[in-house]
Amino acid sequence: MINILFVCLGNICRSPVAEGVFRDLVGKRGLQEKIKCDSAGTSSYHIGDQPDRRMCQIARQRGLQLTHCARKLSGDDFYQFDYILAMDEANFEDIRNISYRSSGFYFPEGQLYLYREFDHLANGDLTVPDPYYEDIAAFDEVYDIVERCGHNFLDFLVEKHQLHT
Ligand code: 4NP
Repeated sequence: MINILFVCLGNICRSPVAEGVFRDLVGKRGLQEKIKCDSAGTSSYHIGDQPDRRMCQIARQRGLQLTHCARKLSGDDFYQFDYILAMDEANFEDIRNISYRSSGFYFPEGQLYLYREFDHLANGDLTVPDPYYEDIAAFDEVYDIVERCGHNFLDFLVEKHQLHT
């Protein structure tokens, strides 16, 4: 089993939709017994909350129901997960620092990525933009980005771990 963790700041907008979209893609390729995923936030702001209603609305329009319950990234996660995908640079640095503080080691390079490293349209901008204080169009854009990244990241895993079905 390959365990994937998506991480943003609040765990109510970007990472839950990244998780939902990715799980859907994994299922469509019949890889649900080989790849599992979850999401978490670097902050405590929204622990226990459902995904942001605007993110849910956009996902629903695309045929996807988001059901995650927000939680904070924990020291245990660095042992449970094989890959961690950060939504932006601040998340990336926070993940590194939290891993060092809680586990005494930096989560290994090659297992920690900016998710947009997998976006072939990123054009040098490797941030999944935080939509929280933006209008609904920003949530639409986040969905498009995580969908592109999801396809490419899944291709990467299939190739690297020889998961061809
Ligand atoms: P997320 O968005 O990190 O994509 O879940 C945010 C959610 C909440 C806050 C910031 C970003 N906040 O400041 O409460």
